[in-house]
Amino acid sequence: MNVKEAISKRRSIRKFTNAEINDEILIDIIKQATLAPSGHNRQPWQFQIIKGKPKDKIADILIKTMQDVPGNTSVHTASVIKEANALIAVYLTDDSSYDNIIDILSIGGAIENMLLTITDYDLGGVWIANTLNIREEIKEVIGNREMISCIAVGYKNQEPHARPRKDFNTVLLNKLD
Ligand SMILES: Cc1cc2nc3c(=O)[nH]c(=O)nc-3n(C[C@H](O)[C@H](O)[C@H](O)COP(=O)(O)O)c2cc1C
Repeated sequence: MNVKEAISKRRSIRKFTNAEINDEILIDIIKQATLAPSGHNRQPWQFQIIKGKPKDKIADILIKTMQDVPGNTSVHTASVIKEANALIAVYLTDDSSYDNIIDILSIGGAIENMLLTITDYDLGGVWIANTLNIREEIKEVIGNREMISCIAVGYKNQEPHARPRKDFNTVLLNKLD
């Protein structure tokens, strides 16, 4: 699959079969993340595969913390985490001497690399940032780390259509030259 194909075929997948993804595939997905560009080449990230009980515990903490917050999508996200075979957690490695926005941008690029690699493997994945709502609470599971996002990944059990995009003419501004 070439890059443009992967970009256009990628979807957020939230329904998964029970099939197990082997660790070599998950590790290869993480290797592709580490090839992303990063500000000052700081590579301000660490990754962790989370499966089984710790994964479900994260979902349970999300439900417990967010279930009474009106209009919040976190409880739905928790059910996606439970159904997924694995989470790939992405942690910001701390160094307050550098620009936090640039580090977070770098992490975004690494996450997109993983989503495109997941598409290339014909797996399904979804970028999850709702876990930011429980950044302190999940330290009970992950230790003293800053989880910026995670990807829920598994074998797909849905083939959604492309979600709508804004009219291209509204996002592309007139050329300045
Ligand atoms: C920064 C970021 C955070 C997201 N967080 C969540 C999330 O917590 N739960 C979820 O189900 N989807 C989450 N998504 C997925 C978006 O809802 C999805 O990308 C968007 O609806 C467009 O659909 P598509 O990815 O299929 O093109 C997130 C996406 C991004 C980029």
